[in-house]
Amino acid sequence: MPRFRHAALAAAAFCATTAQAQDAGQLNVICSVQAEWCNMIQTVFTKSTGIKVNMSMKGSGEALAQLIAERANPKTDVWFGGTGDPHLQAAEQGLTLEYKSPALSQLFPWAQQQAQQSGWKTVGIYSGPLGFGYNTELIAKKKMPIPKSWADLLNPVYKGEIQVANPASSGTAYTMVATLVQLMGEDKAFDYMKALHKNIGQYTRSGTGPIKAVARGETTVSISFVHDGPGEAMQGFPVATVTPSEGTGAEIGSMSIIKGARNLEQAKKFYEWALTPQAQQFGAAAKQFQLPSNKATPVDPRVPDFKSIKFINYDYAKYGASAERKRLISKWEKDVNSLPR
Ligand code: G6P
Repeated sequence: MPRFRHAALAAAAFCATTAQAQDAGQLNVICSVQAEWCNMIQTVFTKSTGIKVNMSMKGSGEALAQLIAERANPKTDVWFGGTGDPHLQAAEQGLTLEYKSPALSQLFPWAQQQAQQSGWKTVGIYSGPLGFGYNTELIAKKKMPIPKSWADLLNPVYKGEIQVANPASSGTAYTMVATLVQLMGEDKAFDYMKALHKNIGQYTRSGTGPIKAVARGETTVSISFVHDGPGEAMQGFPVATVTPSEGTGAEIGSMSIIKGARNLEQAKKFYEWALTPQAQQFGAAAKQFQLPSNKATPVDPRVPDFKSIKFINYDYAKYGASAERKRLISKWEKDVNSLPR
């Protein structure tokens, strides 16, 4: 009898758990940070809420393209991470939902500003500076200087040795285009990118492709977010990073709820969770070293020291506007990418 009771209780508990899981529902997330972090938040959020997360991983530009394509019949509930410019573009195009989190006041001003500039249709979840990565062993072996400025990257010694992503698919690369335009003025920036083109070995699809190639010795130098360096170095790869002396831009990695989300209640739960210091710590736990947006999130010592970097005054509203982003990307395709190397 006691045995039967035990089994019955176990069965009842099992049913309750199953029912709870069913009641908790599901959530469809496009995740634009690195896979380790996407996988970790998927597991932890599901474990703590019972909400099943269907995760699809896409670069920032590709994520935006998917949201535009599914506009009439949205299949995505939340877009987590990726550079802020395409999130602003999505907001402007009415693809994302206005939602004012009660946690906004806990965030750094740059993250709140991102929300405000979008009409509360997105929010900053992290930030990170753009710079260069290089393979410390290869650069020494090939007797190349360490690039310290944008100007240095034009040195013919780097011919075929530099990788950067394609700005149409990658927010990292679009941040580079927008940074150069703001730093040099548009004409000079395009002249610069045409000259740089001669030194580019490959334009990759994803923003992290180039620093991964640097880490593995497939190329010597990359144009990358510098917070993507420490994770590679932790795996034992000879990677170091530097920020250009003329000045550089930073991304405001963002998160948005999709307009017409089928699982809105779950989407809001995820959104609130992702803004907590507890959830933001999973970035560093997954070897991702952006600066988290909640002021109370502990900052890992491997997060780049913003105070030691020369930043431009990046105009997020201007370069996140649909027309400007589209115009600069097609100009890059036409004037830069189509040139022979
Ligand atoms: C990496 C970085 C993120 C960034 C993202 C952009 O995951 O760690 O900080 O937001 O790349 O990816 P993309 O492929 O759009 O350049």
